[in-house]
Amino acid sequence: MMELVMQKARLPALSSCLFFLLSALPLASGSPTLTEDSKCGCFVVNDTEASYFTKHKFFDFRGLTQYAGVPATITNPNDSGTAAVTSQYFTSTEWTDTWMVGNWNNSAGVRKDSSVLMVNSPNNVYIEANGDRNPTSQTFLTLRTQRLPGPPEFQTAAEIESVSGGFRYLSVRMLARTIGSPGAITALFTYRHSDKLAEVQETDLEIRTKDPRNILHYTNQPSYTEDGDDIAEATQNATMPDGLDWTAWAVHRLDWTPTTTKWYIDGQQVANNSFQTPRDASKVILNAWSDGGEWSGNMTNFDAAYLQIQWLDITWNTTDTKPAAKRDVESELGARHDVGPHGPLLARATEQGTCKTVCSIDETTNLGQPVMLWNNGAMRTAGERSSFVSWIPSAAVFALFVLSLR
Ligand SMILES: *[C@@H]1O[C@H](CO)[C@@H](O)[C@H](O)[C@H]1NC(C)=O
Ligand SMILES: *[C@@H]1O[C@H](CO)[C@@H](O)[C@H](O)[C@H]1NC(C)=O
Ligand SMILES: *[C@@H]1O[C@H](CO)[C@@H](O)[C@H](O)[C@H]1NC(C)=O
Ligand SMILES: *[C@@H]1O[C@H](CO)[C@@H](O)[C@H](O)[C@H]1NC(C)=O
Ligand SMILES: *[C@@H]1O[C@H](CO)[C@@H](O)[C@H](O)[C@H]1NC(C)=O
Ligand SMILES: *[C@@H]1O[C@H](CO)[C@@H](O)[C@H](O)[C@H]1NC(C)=O
Ligand SMILES: *[C@@H]1O[C@H](CO)[C@@H](O)[C@H](O)[C@H]1NC(C)=O
Repeated sequence: MMELVMQKARLPALSSCLFFLLSALPLASGSPTLTEDSKCGCFVVNDTEASYFTKHKFFDFRGLTQYAGVPATITNPNDSGTAAVTSQYFTSTEWTDTWMVGNWNNSAGVRKDSSVLMVNSPNNVYIEANGDRNPTSQTFLTLRTQRLPGPPEFQTAAEIESVSGGFRYLSVRMLARTIGSPGAITALFTYRHSDKLAEVQETDLEIRTKDPRNILHYTNQPSYTEDGDDIAEATQNATMPDGLDWTAWAVHRLDWTPTTTKWYIDGQQVANNSFQTPRDASKVILNAWSDGGEWSGNMTNFDAAYLQIQWLDITWNTTDTKPAAKRDVESELGARHDVGPHGPLLARATEQGTCKTVCSIDETTNLGQPVMLWNNGAMRTAGERSSFVSWIPSAAVFALFVLSLR
């Protein structure tokens, strides 16, 4: 009789104890488990709004020694736009699935105040060996712009833009620096084209090489009207944190959400702007350029400036309905666990904004690779390696607990 009472009293104690142990588990078992993009339904980013995104891609330019080489500048403007890409890296699907190398020029007069012919050349986008004294990578991606005497005098420039114009909200980060002579702009931005200036949607980081080397400009475009009046609220000028200047490697980050654009350097917020936040699906673009206008200034002949990038880390939501490649379809299906009889239901839940399997690119111990934060669909996906692994410690704790009761 006494024995029975004891056992009954133990049951609630056991279940509450077990609950306590299981809920403490993520802390007790240390950092979250490294996983794959395809295993993640959503990626949460560590801004104040904790925004969620369904896509993630990491572009690593740090170890591309087989593609490294600085091409000589092409000095004839006529041969610049039509130049070939500088290495096989730029024809690999790793690159072409997401990026295009720009070859347009401003001969049609895109900016009123431009005073020099500018030609974007694929020849100015290349992988370069890192020759720093204490290099933090073997290689990086370079975007080059240079003034050439001609005739005709012109500015050769560089641009890469996303193939997709379907980025609608994102968190993009790059480890980058800007070096070189005054008279150029380097930039990272989202862009939605319109023939009407007032309807352009764009949020940009711009570094002007003629500025003091700790000043950056963050703008939700347009920053001026057709009449040439400034729109002051569009721009915030910021200072690099921690006494850095933009010639030093730093992580530049943009978080674009429905209400705000926020910009960070090395994890510190340096600007945020809710004025003219882009609303519609856009491209992601990076460039290095000059057109002799007021904003960029003029470069001296033969001078050059460079945007150099070790890696790009992007998590985003897409408005694209047709994935570009079959591979994408497969990884999307993987991310949705879209198999078996429950497949369509789970897929619909994801579309409705239920992020069942949530990962982080911020909490990771291996840059570019996500970690699993939580998996609400764990019971349904118990056969998967990631959920299996995460249940091993729970099973071990449970076993230890049961043993300790004996
Ligand atoms: C570039 O092409 C134009 C048009 O064909 C030609 O008039 C001009 O001479 C060329 N310039 C150079 C530097 O070759
Ligand atoms: C500039 O672009 C136009 C239109 O694409 C093209 O016809 C022209 O040849 C280009 N000029 C140069 C110098 O690249
Ligand atoms: C930002 O800097 C630019 C260039 O120096 C200047 O023209 C502009 O007035 C500044 N804007 C603000 C809001 O401080
Ligand atoms: C935006 O920046 C201002 C000024 O630095 C700061 O006070 C504010 O907290 C920021 N807002 C958000 C939402 O981060
Ligand atoms: C750049 O140089 C050109 C002449 O080469 C000149 O017309 C233009 O005004 C200069 N731009 C600036 C901002 O000084
Ligand atoms: C991105 O899409 C997911 C899934 O639909 C949704 O839950 C999330 O709120 C979206 N993120 C933003 C910033 O709108
Ligand atoms: C957010 O994560 C980044 C790394 O992606 C880190 O540099 C930053 O310090 C983190 N910020 C907070 C507030 O945890």
